[in-house]
Amino acid sequence: MNETIALMSRRRSVGPAFLTGPAPDAQELQTLLTLASRVPDHGKLAPWRFIVFAGDAREKAGRLALEIKLADRPDLDEAGRAAEASRFSRSPLVIALVSRAVPHAKIPEWEQVLSAGASAMALELAAAALGLASCWLTEWVAYDARFRAAIGLAEHERIAGFVHIGRAARPPEDRPRPALADIVTHF
Ligand SMILES: Cc1cc2nc3c(=O)[nH]c(=O)nc-3n(C[C@H](O)[C@H](O)[C@H](O)COP(=O)(O)O)c2cc1C
Repeated sequence: MNETIALMSRRRSVGPAFLTGPAPDAQELQTLLTLASRVPDHGKLAPWRFIVFAGDAREKAGRLALEIKLADRPDLDEAGRAAEASRFSRSPLVIALVSRAVPHAKIPEWEQVLSAGASAMALELAAAALGLASCWLTEWVAYDARFRAAIGLAEHERIAGFVHIGRAARPPEDRPRPALADIVTHF
């Protein structure tokens, strides 16, 4: 089978619980970001950007998540506190994909948002091609305005996803996929 088809056929998300190190090295990170920014983009607007959470920055992001969670839930138990504190450091590397779509004279915002989705998928495929594993998550941190501001997002920017990246602790099993008969019609 063609190598690319084989890669796309076997790629699966691997959740943070099954992601181990080592984290991608500097060159792999460069490849990931380069390929994630090489996607269809109507109007060449680059309506997305990336924030890399590597090394100690992952703990720093976790401390911000915990701080915000505690403001809402001062009674949060130990397990809950630990989950927030390790929200980013549970994976070897996290890349936030930020959608920065804005109204434009010619290019609908919807299309700019779709381009961010394409970027996330390109990032996941590039990770798989490098022998890495990944998972595209949002979780509450993507939807909390305080957290978004704390990591440097402007008001209009949104999190398309936090892509967690590492190495698969064990090969993932596939999950059922939609039957083409249910999703395809011929006009
Ligand atoms: C925009 C977006 C956000 C997602 N957020 C989460 C999430 O917060 N938590 C989660 O368990 N899965 C989330 N997922 C699902 C996983 O990324 C993934 O699709 C799922 O684990 C199975 O994927 P696979 O078919 O690539 O193996 C999200 C998917 C997308 C597209």
